[in-house]
Amino acid sequence: MRQPLVAGNWKLNGSRTSVVELADAVASACGNLPIETLVCPAFVHIADVCGTLDGQNLRVGAQDCSDQSSGAYTGEVSAQMLAEMGVSSVIVGHSERRQFYADSNERVAAKFEQVQSAGLTPIFCLGESAEEREAGTTREVIGSQLQAVIARCGVVAMKNAVLAYEPVWAIGTGLTASPEEAQEVHRWLRAEVAAGSAEIAAGLRILYGGSVKPANAAQLFAEADIDGGLIGGAALDAADFSAICRAAAG
Ligand code: 13P
Repeated sequence: MRQPLVAGNWKLNGSRTSVVELADAVASACGNLPIETLVCPAFVHIADVCGTLDGQNLRVGAQDCSDQSSGAYTGEVSAQMLAEMGVSSVIVGHSERRQFYADSNERVAAKFEQVQSAGLTPIFCLGESAEEREAGTTREVIGSQLQAVIARCGVVAMKNAVLAYEPVWAIGTGLTASPEEAQEVHRWLRAEVAAGSAEIAAGLRILYGGSVKPANAAQLFAEADIDGGLIGGAALDAADFSAICRAAAG
């Protein structure tokens, strides 16, 4: 019922030449799979990547956007500008933005709203730190991340959104949440949305992110509430990323 989605977050990596080569290699390896695939280059590489993928079955996303639509906000990039470039989705609330660039729950909610207002799909990241998990506050932390967006945009906004559960302790560390640990959080997140609308919750795609590799992808994606992945390190290698996409295709 929910089409799997695998998204590559390339973060702060690549050159103009290397990202175009990577996008081409991913498009030829994954273009025929019955899933949605997406790559998210740095802002300045989006035009080149969109150009090389014209007509191919691989979408392009952005890694972030401004919480403002226009004005005196030096250095910012609006969701509307990204829409003009040809992206389909924008990641908001990534833990690296929350941790290093002070994105609060409220700012993430404002970014989420900007993305939808531009007609794009937010890929809304949520996740707890190692300390928060150890303290038993995982649900409290991701619950408040989720509720900040619902308070601003309404549960109806989840109809055109994707959630990405990314436990901070699993990002780039080689430590993956076990399929059971991830599934437990995904099921809980879906139930939280279902409290507002069962129908929207049933159609909502919830991705898992955090050290997904070809070796662990199939087990994670086999869980009932894990609808694909948001991939960091392994997305920089076309062979690894396409192996992950094949695992999502089943
Ligand atoms: P890694 O796959 O490198 O752990 O990164 C995950 C991530 O942050 C995707 O957004």
